[in-house]
Amino acid sequence: MALRTVLKMGCPSLYEVAKPVEKFNTPFLQTLIQDMFETMTHKNGVGLAAPQIGVSLRIIIFGVEKNARYPNAEEIPNTLLINPKVEVLDSEKVADWEGCLSVPGMRGLVERPSKICYQGYDELGRPMTRTVSGFHARVVLHEVDHIDGILYPLRLKDLRQFGFEEVLSTRNSL
Ligand code: NI
Repeated sequence: MALRTVLKMGCPSLYEVAKPVEKFNTPFLQTLIQDMFETMTHKNGVGLAAPQIGVSLRIIIFGVEKNARYPNAEEIPNTLLINPKVEVLDSEKVADWEGCLSVPGMRGLVERPSKICYQGYDELGRPMTRTVSGFHARVVLHEVDHIDGILYPLRLKDLRQFGFEEVLSTRNSL
């Protein structure tokens, strides 16, 4: 396993639409997925998409463990999703603060649908589906945006609600 470099906003490849995975259960996929989990954990991220490490494939991972630092954060099981599809079940949008490993040190207020059903495949090609809402839905939508070449700052409605984490945290709004 190896840590991979996370590309930062401005890198042209982050704005490309990634390609679907066609071959499952390959050593390439196995190594890529292991490296993605290792990189996400190392960076204390809640999600990572393959394009963020320079691989233009429709692969996302995410997960949030119970953490003493964030006692109110909802737990999300560590999940791998290949070729994900999302269906919006409740189009009412909710605004909340987001960050991104490709936009380090920043936070922005992003509106997203509050309830979704997502489906996708694991590394062996086995299908899975879940219906989720709230923070879990937000994390998945953020990561699926990455494989469509969309970074969260592109979704900001009000650039005044975008700024440096160290400053925003003093506003009690995070
Ligand atoms: Ni991100």
